[in-house]
Amino acid sequence: MSEVKSGKPWPDPPEDLLGLPAKPIGIYQNPMPMPNVKWKDFPKNMPFEEYHQMAGKYGIHHTVNHGKLLYDSAKHGTGEGYIVEIGTYWGHGACYLAFGSKTAGREKVITIDIDKGHMYSLYSNQFFDRPPGQLLRTYMNFLMVGVSDWIIPIRCDSILASEILDVPIRVLHVDGDHYYNPAAWDIIAWEPKLVLGAIVIFHDYNLEGVQKAVDEYIQKNPVFSDVVVVDIMTAYAYKVAA
Ligand SMILES: C[S@@+](CC[C@H](N)C(=O)[O-])C[C@H]1O[C@@H](n2cnc3c(N)ncnc32)[C@H](O)[C@@H]1O
Repeated sequence: MSEVKSGKPWPDPPEDLLGLPAKPIGIYQNPMPMPNVKWKDFPKNMPFEEYHQMAGKYGIHHTVNHGKLLYDSAKHGTGEGYIVEIGTYWGHGACYLAFGSKTAGREKVITIDIDKGHMYSLYSNQFFDRPPGQLLRTYMNFLMVGVSDWIIPIRCDSILASEILDVPIRVLHVDGDHYYNPAAWDIIAWEPKLVLGAIVIFHDYNLEGVQKAVDEYIQKNPVFSDVVVVDIMTAYAYKVAA
């Protein structure tokens, strides 16, 4: 395995950068409460293909392979524990996960995104700085496909969240920072929370940083099964030993 820096994944940024706090400010909740209203009833027993089409109409989209893997894992996966996603963005992955889990009446989806303003992100090009209106659109997406009550969105750096959230996890969707060092850290930081039999799913496996992190920290790690590459975008493995 090539070496990933010990300690924090990135060096501390200079204190005065952009006048923003240099250190993580902790987990903070959505800027506004999720409206406690029924926007749309969840279509009971809706087949995956129908959901995929319906979500597509709202602009919520993953490849069929990736969407189905998220849905199946959330619905049928082994073990008990939360479903965690690193990288929410528009919430597409979270919708597929939540749809699967909600259909089966199983655990909720915790989706984590740094979203903006976190200084560590300046060390990576994966910084998606977007105005609050766009964030609202993410929450609207959850509402529009009937899964807002099954998703717990958290705005926080992934590594910081891993230090604070003490939860067992049975499905982990890794779709955050796609550079090697942060992607590797996502694996290292979250692996101890995975229950036996948990599945870890990677999006954008075609990207060099993600592929290298998966090859070195999943494929070569005996606690995981062999990595299954589904297609150019998608790869997964199971936790097979404690
Ligand atoms: C490719 S997008 C995620 C797409 C999303 N999973 C979907 O299916 O719609 C990557 C997201 O990771 C977030 N991200 C990048 N670095 C992060 C970090 N260190 N902690 C948490 N989120 C991070 C970005 O803000 C961005 O929104």
